[in-house]
Amino acid sequence: MLVDFTQQELRYLIDLAIELKAKVKAGETHHILKGKTLGMIFEKSSTRTRVSFEVGIYQLGGQGLFLSGNDLQIGRGETIWDTAQTLSRYLDGIMIRTFAHRKVVELARGATIPVINGLTDLSHPCQALTDFQTIYEHKGKLEGLKMAYIGDGNNMVHSLMMGAAKLGVNMSVATPEGYEPDEDIVRQTNAVAAETGAIIHVCRDPREAIEGADVVYTDVWASMGQEAEQKEREVAFAAYQVNDELVKHAKNDFLFMHCLPAHRGEEVSESVIDGKQSIIFDQAENRLHAQKAIMAAIMS
Ligand code: CP
Ligand code: NVA
Repeated sequence: MLVDFTQQELRYLIDLAIELKAKVKAGETHHILKGKTLGMIFEKSSTRTRVSFEVGIYQLGGQGLFLSGNDLQIGRGETIWDTAQTLSRYLDGIMIRTFAHRKVVELARGATIPVINGLTDLSHPCQALTDFQTIYEHKGKLEGLKMAYIGDGNNMVHSLMMGAAKLGVNMSVATPEGYEPDEDIVRQTNAVAAETGAIIHVCRDPREAIEGADVVYTDVWASMGQEAEQKEREVAFAAYQVNDELVKHAKNDFLFMHCLPAHRGEEVSESVIDGKQSIIFDQAENRLHAQKAIMAAIMS
């Protein structure tokens, strides 16, 4: 969780990610985790997280093991505690993508090796760290920028809010009624923001949220596990599409961001997501570099 890191630690990880990215581009070997192994438990689908972690540990000189939740004994009821204790005897780190956030917390409690949250229903910290690295690369700074998030008050916005609060980025979030971010997370981020001077604002009106924004972010209306709600969400979110009309109210040089996968024509118009100001594939690429920084920092 980003809440566990200080502002200095997050800045260190961003700098390290940029340094490791430069090494890959220069073809320099950087086997910081030579011979180490990362177990990667997936109970939900993934393209970016799976591939970037597996390639990342390989580039660091180690090896990744893909562990499907269905194939592990955890899928047949073995406890998280026993799984954590067992895996800690073989591996040097565990990455897990799952539904209930408490599973990651229990895994971390039971494990004697580092556990990385690769997305839960509550948060997506690796993506958020990556996103702040990407913004920093494009804008040359973070503090004082304004990010607008339009859409569902989901795992993605929770991690972005915490990252923004920690890193001094102002953030305005607009969601429809009934789809607001978690109240505890809003309280926690406001407490952090009070220390860093960031302003975190949650509202209803997408126009209000996007006004003067440097960064415009959105995510799917129905996250993994919410597929049955797709139709009702399409109705609830109809006025929350990021399109040409809405982005007129952001700064002229705004950046468009999306964690992907995206639904063109729903949360974002094709013109915006495929437009010149969209940096979605820089974000996708940086998952590799940011997660290498995380692994290098906690597994070496
Ligand atoms: N953004 C992201 O986490 O993508 P995947 O679901 O493909 O891993
Ligand atoms: N909110 C989305 C993010 C996917 C990376 C989901 O949880 O499905």
